[in-house]
Amino acid sequence: MATRGRFITLEGLEGVGKTTNREHIHSLLADKNIDVLVTREPGGTELGEQLRHLLLHASTAVCAESELLMMAASRKQHTVEVIEPALRKGLWVLCDRYVDASFAYQGGGRELGAETVASVHELLSIDIKPDLTFLLDMPIADGLKRMAERGKPDKIEKEALAFFERARAAYLQRAQAQPARIKVVDASRALNDVQQQVQNELQAFLARCHG
Ligand SMILES: Nc1ncnc2c1ncn2[C@@H]1O[C@H](COP(=O)(O)OP(=O)(O)OP(=O)(O)O)[C@@H](O)[C@H]1O
Ligand SMILES: [Mg+2]
Repeated sequence: MATRGRFITLEGLEGVGKTTNREHIHSLLADKNIDVLVTREPGGTELGEQLRHLLLHASTAVCAESELLMMAASRKQHTVEVIEPALRKGLWVLCDRYVDASFAYQGGGRELGAETVASVHELLSIDIKPDLTFLLDMPIADGLKRMAERGKPDKIEKEALAFFERARAAYLQRAQAQPARIKVVDASRALNDVQQQVQNELQAFLARCHG
């Protein structure tokens, strides 16, 4: 039987550099001959991508609770269809956003609270935990600027500043509660500096895996 793979996630608000750093981590792991499956949420499966479209681009009205359940449906499908089988085969999984994002966006941003988010995940037995999470953090205004340079905002990106402040606070609170898993990276720095910290944390993690 293959040794179970490791599960690494990237978290943070819009435009902080999750996808950019995901590619960086992917190439660092590839250099170590580690086979990696790269994926994202919401999405990662056919159902998940359809839910992603509804959540981010369609004009359909979605209340906070429905949003949480749709995110959770996407995540459950992604977990059973993609993440768990890959980990079981020994692949490492690198995922743009996972459970922590619901604590930030639906729990914090939409103000449903951490307990509600936790109980939905419990109900659905979404119980695999990332082994390592990078939380890319920076002031809201800087992230919004990067996003504006990129063009047309989606539905969540059009939220008010206060929404993102609450989401950021919820992310940081979670990182504070789980410091061994969640590594906070100051994403406001030059990309080289950000990538250097990501690389250092990844190397420390790899050393722990082998130790
Ligand atoms: N440290 C950095 N300094 C300056 N620009 C950066 C930095 N990191 C990423 N960028 C740029 O900011 C933009 C957003 O980066 P990226 O797409 O990786 O963010 P993201 O977190 O994946 O965004 P989204 O939440 O929308 O998926 C890109 O144009 C990227 O090149
Ligand atoms: Mg991205």
